[in-house]
Amino acid sequence: MKLATSIVLLASTLFSEVIAATAGCGKTPSKVKAGTNTLTVNGKSRQWILTLPANYNNTYPYRLIYGVHWRDGTFTDVANGGQIRPYYGVPELANNTAIFISPNGLNKGWANTGGEDITLFREINKAVDAELCINEKLRFSIGWSYGGAMSYSIACTLGQDFRGVAAFSGGPVSGCAGGTDPVAYFGQHGISDSVLSITLGRQLRDTFVRNNGCTAQSPQEPSRGSGKHILTKYAGCKADKPVWWTAFDGDHTPIPSGSGTNKDTTFTGPGVWDFIKQFE
Ligand SMILES: *[C@@H]1O[C@H](CO)[C@@H](O)[C@H](O)[C@H]1NC(C)=O
Ligand SMILES: *[C@@H]1O[C@H](CO)[C@@H](O)[C@H](O)[C@H]1NC(C)=O
Repeated sequence: MKLATSIVLLASTLFSEVIAATAGCGKTPSKVKAGTNTLTVNGKSRQWILTLPANYNNTYPYRLIYGVHWRDGTFTDVANGGQIRPYYGVPELANNTAIFISPNGLNKGWANTGGEDITLFREINKAVDAELCINEKLRFSIGWSYGGAMSYSIACTLGQDFRGVAAFSGGPVSGCAGGTDPVAYFGQHGISDSVLSITLGRQLRDTFVRNNGCTAQSPQEPSRGSGKHILTKYAGCKADKPVWWTAFDGDHTPIPSGSGTNKDTTFTGPGVWDFIKQFE
């Protein structure tokens, strides 16, 4: 019996490792390519940028991280950087362990009308899973403002497909269909946000405090003029479903205490990378 049990355990371990890697492992991509790709979704032509790690290895199951742009921003703003570091500063920390994708919103935003943007993410996942080697338990979406709202919407609706999301200065403006699955959640918000008030950021966070079974609390937030940020890691959450919350002294910005050439060198990129890298 002991041997049989071991064999069952071994088989299920092997099986779960096999299914965590996408069908694209071992393949040479022929349809998806580094740079701009196009898909037709609900009859509309949609674009997205694929950024592969250096020396892409088609047998290594990579993390997949979506970087989602803000209102009036575009996919190139996230992929190439400028106002922010590329993909909110994560690739320079991920050390080639992740594939990044920056999709383009309709009308420079993420209204997600009738769920069409959620469908876009589903379709991109399908396209890349078929041709690239991805660990399907390690998909994430991160974004600022409208991009944070869209990442929240993804957590609400695609919690089976995404391991975690990060919303910087987000609000519930891309909808939340479903909204009951536990999903690892990272929220960051300025205490003086004049566009999407921090009350909205707390609301998004609290959806996942509930869903993830964390112990409710009112995390400490920095005072105005302190120039500080405070990271709170919720206690009591279900295994693998953490909720992290960073409140900072500032307004509606993805670059809380950098400016000019000192772009996002402070805590946005390192904070979200610390959050993502805890999942293996
Ligand atoms: C590619 O990834 C596989 C699986 O992790 C690893 O065994 C192999 O050494 C890697 N190849 C290179 C050239 O790094
Ligand atoms: C980046 O990855 C390479 C290859 O796995 C490793 O040798 C190197 O130490 C890593 N660098 C950092 C800063 O983690």
